[in-house]
Amino acid sequence: MPPKKKILITSALPYANGPIHVGHLVEYIQTDIYVRFLKLIGEDAIYCCADDAHGAPIEIAAMKEGVKPEEIIGKFHIGHQEDFEKFHISFDSYYTTNSPENQHYSNQIFNELKKGDLIYQKEVELTYCPHCKRFLPDRYVKGKCPKCNAVDQYGDVCESCNATYNTTDLVSPYCTICGSSPGRKKSTHYFFKLSHFSGKLDSWLTANKSLQPEIVNYIRNWIKDGLQDWDISRDGPYFGFKIPGEENLYYYVWLDAPIGYIASTQHYCKANKLDAEKHYWKSKNSKIIHFIGKDIIYFHFLFWPAMLMGSGFNLPEEIVVHGFLTVNGQKMSKSRGTFLTAGEFASQYNPEYLRYYYAKTISKKMADIDLNFREFEDSINNELAANIGNFCYRVLSFTAKNFDGKIRGKGRDGKLLKEIDDVVARIKDSYSSVNLNEAVKGILALSSLGNKYFQENEPWKLLKTDRKKAHDVLGTCVDITKILCIVVSPVLPVFSSTLQNQLNLKKLSWNDIGVETKAYSINEPKVLVERFEQKKKDLFPLDLKVARIVEVREHPDADRLYILKIRIGKEERQLVAGLRKHYSADELKGKKIIVVANLKPAKLRGIESNGMLLAGEDQNGNVGILTVKAAEDGESAMFGSSENSKLQVTYEEFEKLKMIVHDGKVLYGNQSLSAGPEDVVVDKVKEGTVH
Ligand code: MSP
Ligand code: ZN
Repeated sequence: MPPKKKILITSALPYANGPIHVGHLVEYIQTDIYVRFLKLIGEDAIYCCADDAHGAPIEIAAMKEGVKPEEIIGKFHIGHQEDFEKFHISFDSYYTTNSPENQHYSNQIFNELKKGDLIYQKEVELTYCPHCKRFLPDRYVKGKCPKCNAVDQYGDVCESCNATYNTTDLVSPYCTICGSSPGRKKSTHYFFKLSHFSGKLDSWLTANKSLQPEIVNYIRNWIKDGLQDWDISRDGPYFGFKIPGEENLYYYVWLDAPIGYIASTQHYCKANKLDAEKHYWKSKNSKIIHFIGKDIIYFHFLFWPAMLMGSGFNLPEEIVVHGFLTVNGQKMSKSRGTFLTAGEFASQYNPEYLRYYYAKTISKKMADIDLNFREFEDSINNELAANIGNFCYRVLSFTAKNFDGKIRGKGRDGKLLKEIDDVVARIKDSYSSVNLNEAVKGILALSSLGNKYFQENEPWKLLKTDRKKAHDVLGTCVDITKILCIVVSPVLPVFSSTLQNQLNLKKLSWNDIGVETKAYSINEPKVLVERFEQKKKDLFPLDLKVARIVEVREHPDADRLYILKIRIGKEERQLVAGLRKHYSADELKGKKIIVVANLKPAKLRGIESNGMLLAGEDQNGNVGILTVKAAEDGESAMFGSSENSKLQVTYEEFEKLKMIVHDGKVLYGNQSLSAGPEDVVVDKVKEGTVH
């Protein structure tokens, strides 16, 4: 037998300047499930990824915080890995693009391309901020997209239409550091001859039947429109690898980022006495599969394959593209309360449940997917708990109770066997084609089949009439439980291994599906999935937070209103507040107040207000702000033990809530408002209402 094909699977490399969020997890969970499936069926597959550590945003963050970029990327490298572990995402290598291996391959590929006459130097005119005395690469400059005219787009890629362009193409640009309108300055840059690859890329796209057809069409249209050569260098200051022989010129982050796939492969290979080029990237007996989001198609279907073609590396055989995540139907955004980090999710729910929900939602399509918390809880209760979990527990506990956990191991029931075989084949096909939603449907069908068999054969009745038959029915059900345990394991690795322990079996793989269960004893069964309680009654609809007033200005068009700049932890916001008759600007500045952070943003006399400050008012018209002493800005203020909802509320919904001031404190029902151990107090007002 020839050696097994080596399969390398990657996910896009997350930027090292922010935490992993539930949007990212769509991709890492999808990929992880696929890799676990491949390993389960005995493929020689590895999963490699890394942090994308270079580029302008990381330098901005470092400059603003006054630290070295290395400090930031080091912190997120640890944080990302902790998050991935929580969600049972199991990499064979999780590396960083800021590594010696990556520098090595970046230089190697750069030199190969240069040798092949695929790179040339050209003087370019670039966006330069005379005020900041620096070139403004990519994220340092914003303006209107030259293709679709969307406002506030970065200088490299439009988040609205996904087009990529040069900073100087932006319409009405401004410097994101100082806000001034920048000028231009000349510099000599390196260009990659992407245009040279139009024909080759087009043939690759049409020949490769594993690529999603809707995307192939999309890309071929781009090629038809004509490909532009690609500027692969950036002037310092920049965080990245210096181009060999250059004083102040660096590789553009999107040059060395995908090369990070190779570097991460080598990181794995080194530990396993293999070689990234020999065994994966230049081997005839390997297969490379990338998983990416739809926002980075251009880089993965054009630049990256062209770079690989030009430097003698293998091309990916498949690129699986998924859509974007919305939360409760809305784009993920901090101000809407729909931005949820992996850590925040894991502190509220069992992370494995998100794997289940994403699996049942993702197909091999570019369509966007929604994390709807109502549907999420319902599907855990009705499918995972009531169907799969309940069947397994029922079977095992019935066996434990009535047969002392012993299985007789009689042959399988022929008709049932055929039905099981069919659904197992369907599950396998669905996993193989990354149609995870279909795989989950198959798993549910299998579990329903088991439930139906149990129900129809009424073993609880047979116990009294035909004990032997009852025992056989249970044997068959244990068999189905074992199959479920196997087919569900890519999606729910922890559930599956707990169940495997209860089944008293070890190291089950896909092949064990065909192996009949012999006479043996199971272990003690326990409930596998707890249903969610409807804990909604404990949820307070407002996200009340402590905020610090950092700036107070007078509203130009309303003599009752102030425009406040406030800080809530790391976040800065603008609020409009009707306090001018009651407080001077100096009195307010520096005060710690309580704000409704999840109120729908509104314009007050033409000025945007993102949230609302709370104040008390008594019968004589005295108005006083809610304030705290020790609590820090960013802390939550809560009534008793009820949690604050993060979902956006409208002003009308807010108005319906009756919060009152009693004895200088704030009450809702009979609970008082506190931030940490400290009661929130109301300035000037002893008895009254809050609004
Ligand atoms: N660093 C680049 C990728 C370089 S690959 C050589 C990048 N990083 S990212 O952190 O912005 O995104 C990483 C992956 O997560 C991308 O595939 C991206 O599409 C995906 N997602 C980020 N936000 C997402 C959602 N809200 N929804 C679904 N996927 C999302 O791009
Ligand atoms: Zn500037």
